[in-house]
Amino acid sequence: MGAKADKNILFICGSLRAPSLNRQVGNAATHMLGEISAHLHTRWLDYADLPYMNQDIEFPAPATVKRVRADVMAADAVWIFSPEYNQGIPGVLKNCLDWLSRPLEPGSDDTAMKGRLTMFSCAGGGGKARYCAARLEETLAFMQTDLIETTHTQVALDRHDYTTNELVMSEAEQEALRTQTRILADRLLG
Ligand SMILES: Cc1cc2nc3c(=O)[nH]c(=O)nc-3n(C[C@H](O)[C@H](O)[C@H](O)COP(=O)(O)O)c2cc1C
Repeated sequence: MGAKADKNILFICGSLRAPSLNRQVGNAATHMLGEISAHLHTRWLDYADLPYMNQDIEFPAPATVKRVRADVMAADAVWIFSPEYNQGIPGVLKNCLDWLSRPLEPGSDDTAMKGRLTMFSCAGGGGKARYCAARLEETLAFMQTDLIETTHTQVALDRHDYTTNELVMSEAEQEALRTQTRILADRLLG
């Protein structure tokens, strides 16, 4: 158990591939958060084994769904890092959000995400995954999360990033990410 001041930030990556560039944006955010305070802890949500949302199997919730919801509910904040697939939210991430949007028990108003502090960042091609960013903003608001009002970092991936799988962020993108980490730290640490 950490000290009372410790805060846990759960990262969700919209890409499941190991060398994900979006995951690298998150890892850069972890580094920046660590520079702000040793009390800010991050970890990635493991959700690749979630079943497809299907109301036939919603109650009782499958074990994987229960585990993912417990991870989310144990977090002080959720930060999503996602690419855009065909100008939208990647299916695996949308499926995860769909499970997280549903009642914990039949007839309940409670969900794992309602009221939870959330934020997102997106890395995509020249359009900086702007369609996914717009959809995430709507979806997180619709889910009644406490979406932090800030500029959500959008990173432009180029040929170098795509061919090497090594993320290079511009100065402006790094500054935007640093600003996001500061805003989150302020909300969490007061
Ligand atoms: C199914 C699919 C659809 C894609 N559609 C888009 C798109 O609409 N816009 C975009 O900027 N990039 C698109 N891309 C390219 C992604 O930006 C690129 O693969 C990126 O590296 C994925 O993020 P990751 O590195 O975190 O896995 C798409 C990739 C895939 C696999």
